[in-house]
Amino acid sequence: VNALVVGASGRVGRRILQRLRARGDRAVGTFVSRPFDGGVRLDVGSAPDVERIARETRPHVVFLAGGLTHVDACEERPDEALRVNVDGTAHVVRACGEAGAYLLGFSTDYVFDGADGPYAESAAPAPLSHYGFTKLAGEQLVLNAGLAAAVARTSMVYEFRPGDGNFLMFVYDRLAAGRPALCYTDQFGTPSSVEDVAAAAVEIADRRLTGLIHVAGPDFMSRAEFGRAVAAAFGMDARLIQEATTRDRPQQARRPVRAGLRTDRMRTELKTRMRGLADALRASPRGA
Ligand SMILES: NC(=O)c1ccc[n+]([C@@H]2O[C@H](COP(=O)([O-])OP(=O)(O)OC[C@H]3O[C@@H](n4cnc5c(N)ncnc54)[C@H](OP(=O)(O)O)[C@@H]3O)[C@@H](O)[C@H]2O)c1
Repeated sequence: VNALVVGASGRVGRRILQRLRARGDRAVGTFVSRPFDGGVRLDVGSAPDVERIARETRPHVVFLAGGLTHVDACEERPDEALRVNVDGTAHVVRACGEAGAYLLGFSTDYVFDGADGPYAESAAPAPLSHYGFTKLAGEQLVLNAGLAAAVARTSMVYEFRPGDGNFLMFVYDRLAAGRPALCYTDQFGTPSSVEDVAAAAVEIADRRLTGLIHVAGPDFMSRAEFGRAVAAAFGMDARLIQEATTRDRPQQARRPVRAGLRTDRMRTELKTRMRGLADALRASPRGA
């Protein structure tokens, strides 16, 4: 199998690339600002660059894990978010059509307004943020292109990886330094181990599943509960988890409060099992 992993310097793409290579697939990974050994630079916003890499790698399968994922940055730079997350997706969709490749795109529970999550695939999206809006537009491009394609939505992706900015590492670094970590009590999601997300993504692509599929862990919890679970797993001081509500401490982009994903389709159709937060933390290098 020839695979192309767009955004392989990112959290999810890196793990997908590792997994494919570990089993002997031919896989090319791309980056923008964080080069890695064997990686190819690709900005999906450039249509000619996307066409070129598709011609050179002749992929059977494309994982589109790259994009502008920083929720507040998308609010600050709306044109850039559109260029990357929407136009970029359109370029990848076109290249997959020409190559006859299967496409797996990624999206988020931030396509929902957070009034009554966790959400099933059939729930109506209503994004509150520009990030959510661009991700929803990207989903529609992937799903309506007439390709063999799926979109995996995920939520609160974490891994124990020093230097990474995911929520687990935010809490870990703060607590390790004896500093408070601000965690929202009213922002709920379904924490998802990056290793499990990558395993599910590879299985979805291997089986050429199509349509929307939610890929998330089994726990529905708030950021504050997530933070306390991190403290417990690493034997750190849970009193440093500083609770706040979204109304008290507004962020730049609006966040859905009761977000999170229901995963009935995933649990029925996939062999991959997503671990709960406590189990995944226990298996992590330092105690994910
Ligand atoms: N992390 C989460 O909690 C979460 C939750 C829900 C959904 N998701 C979705 O899951 C997918 C993967 O997220 P992630 O957490 O792995 O993201 P990430 O760690 O922020 O990585 C983003 C990747 O996209 C690349 N990228 C940035 N701009 C690009 C451009 N113009 N063209 C091509 N690639 C570009 C980055 O490259 P450089 O780093 O080299 O610049 C990096 O490889 C995304 O679709 C995201 O929306 C993530």
